[in-house]
Amino acid sequence: MCGIVGVLGQHEAAPLLVEALKRLEYRGYDSAGIATVNNGTLDRRRAVGKLVNLSDLLVHDPLPGKSGIGHTRWATHGAPNANNAHPHQSGPVAVVHNGIIENYKDLRAELASHQITPKTDTDTETVALLTHHYMQQGMTHVDASRACLARLEGAFALAFLFDGEDDLIVAARRGSPLAIGHGDGEMFVGSDAIALAPMTDTITYLEEGDCAILTRQTLDVFDESGAKVTRPSRTINTDASRVDKAGYKHFMAKEIAEQPTVLADALRAYLDGNTIVFPGTLPDFTKVDRLTMVACGTAFYACLTAKYWFEQLAQLPVEVDIASEFRYREPPITPRTVALFVSQSGETADTLAALRYCKGRADSIVSAVNVAESSIARESDVALPIHAGVEVGVASTKAFTCQLNTLLLMALHAAVARGVMTQDQLAEKLAHLRGLPGLFNIALERDAAMADAAHKIAEARDVLFLGRGLMYPLALEGALKLKEISYIHAEAYASGELKHGPIALIDKNVPVIVMAPRDALFEKTVSNMQEVMARGGKVCLVTDAKGAAEAGEDVWRTIILPTVDPVLSPLLYALPAQLIAYHAAIAKGTDVDQPRNLAKSVTVE
Ligand code: F6R
Repeated sequence: MCGIVGVLGQHEAAPLLVEALKRLEYRGYDSAGIATVNNGTLDRRRAVGKLVNLSDLLVHDPLPGKSGIGHTRWATHGAPNANNAHPHQSGPVAVVHNGIIENYKDLRAELASHQITPKTDTDTETVALLTHHYMQQGMTHVDASRACLARLEGAFALAFLFDGEDDLIVAARRGSPLAIGHGDGEMFVGSDAIALAPMTDTITYLEEGDCAILTRQTLDVFDESGAKVTRPSRTINTDASRVDKAGYKHFMAKEIAEQPTVLADALRAYLDGNTIVFPGTLPDFTKVDRLTMVACGTAFYACLTAKYWFEQLAQLPVEVDIASEFRYREPPITPRTVALFVSQSGETADTLAALRYCKGRADSIVSAVNVAESSIARESDVALPIHAGVEVGVASTKAFTCQLNTLLLMALHAAVARGVMTQDQLAEKLAHLRGLPGLFNIALERDAAMADAAHKIAEARDVLFLGRGLMYPLALEGALKLKEISYIHAEAYASGELKHGPIALIDKNVPVIVMAPRDALFEKTVSNMQEVMARGGKVCLVTDAKGAAEAGEDVWRTIILPTVDPVLSPLLYALPAQLIAYHAAIAKGTDVDQPRNLAKSVTVE
């Protein structure tokens, strides 16, 4: 992953670089660094750990200069230490990089034959070494950078800064996004437009294979073939408030709590009375016979949930796959297949690669994204915004419920289009949906019960989640949330699978969280619960009042949610999944918003 930024400014670059890196910290927070050119002299500062360590370092050891580059790292090659932190430098060349240089070992071997040896364990340093090597052979800064870029294999976004050149940055994009920002006599570069929001809202997105030469007054872009090209600039509506916790202790807490408002806004954006209005033309669902959904992580669980909706409501066969598996499986895609990609960031490398695989094969490419300007959105035939607003917490919460909301609206549309649902039935479902933010507010009032259960759960080493039907993907999401922010080992199973193996894990030390509204499958789930309790297992049941009354007395903890239309239950039951994980993480004292080893946008495969 990693985030990169560059500034050719009229003011000191270091504070601007640090502010932009703060906005990119969602891409990784193993280490951070900046380099500037001051009166022609290139210098750099780097610090291991969170960005705040770099900020502290800069207080004691400032870095003057009006041009600079910066980096926040999610380590791929080389441990996260100060030596491996970017920018990497060789002689007059400093480089920041997002992505992976796949052929760095070959390039290192070639450089070794010229007695050039690396000082770090990173793939990135090779870029600085090779560019420097070409400059020593007489090439200009720009020619040397371009010659180096031509030698690189892999996926990357890069920015180069040079000693002796305080009005020059070379930037390149292959596989990882890169935005150029235009100021008044200033020029900027960043991994996304939000990073540049405090400096400018006028953005040019580089295309795949582009190399850009920036000065304060000019931007020259060359495409993959080396031809000079013009890329349009546009005004972007960026949300400058992204670093505001609004009084909450964590972004995650804020993002969980704002779900009623966000969902109400998302519904307003999609509903005109009882008509669902999509931006762009959706595929003709009467002419397709399959939906293939692809995503990663939480977004994948949103797809798994939507499979139930599309199959049950719209009678449309659905295949769901994890993007990293799908892209290498080379699955046959018929021309009557709609390919649907779900991604909060819109930049997930595997999901983007899967999308590209489906292009030209599927009937159409549809995406559900949170970042409207993202690569996945821009490469889709139709991109549906999920309207979650900026999500900062690394663990996805409101984006998940907004993904579910968008997918449900799409399934309802398909159901009506395919003649499986009447307009009256649609109106009834939409009425329930409109009531959902209110139910979320009631459920949020049960926070104390969730916190109480979570504090007990936090004492366990292993936790199981069970669910049936629409609650099965929710159980998977609950286990993922708990793992990623509390570091407690958690597994999820379809309730009916328990006795096919996992029941061997049950003992008094393993809490079992059962997600089970009182729906048509409830009695079956209760039987599975009895099997757990008969073996000493401690059941935490998440259900509604009717379910709680019927569940019996042996249940260890019960969390009671308001009654909800069964079709909508995954949206409401996402809340306890999120809050149990949140409170368990608080009890464990982990870093809720930036859990170890994770990053929010996974732009490497
Ligand atoms: C978990 C989480 C991840 C993401 C996954 C896909 O809380 O956030 O599992 O869902 O990395 O990311 P996007 O949706 O950006 O493609």
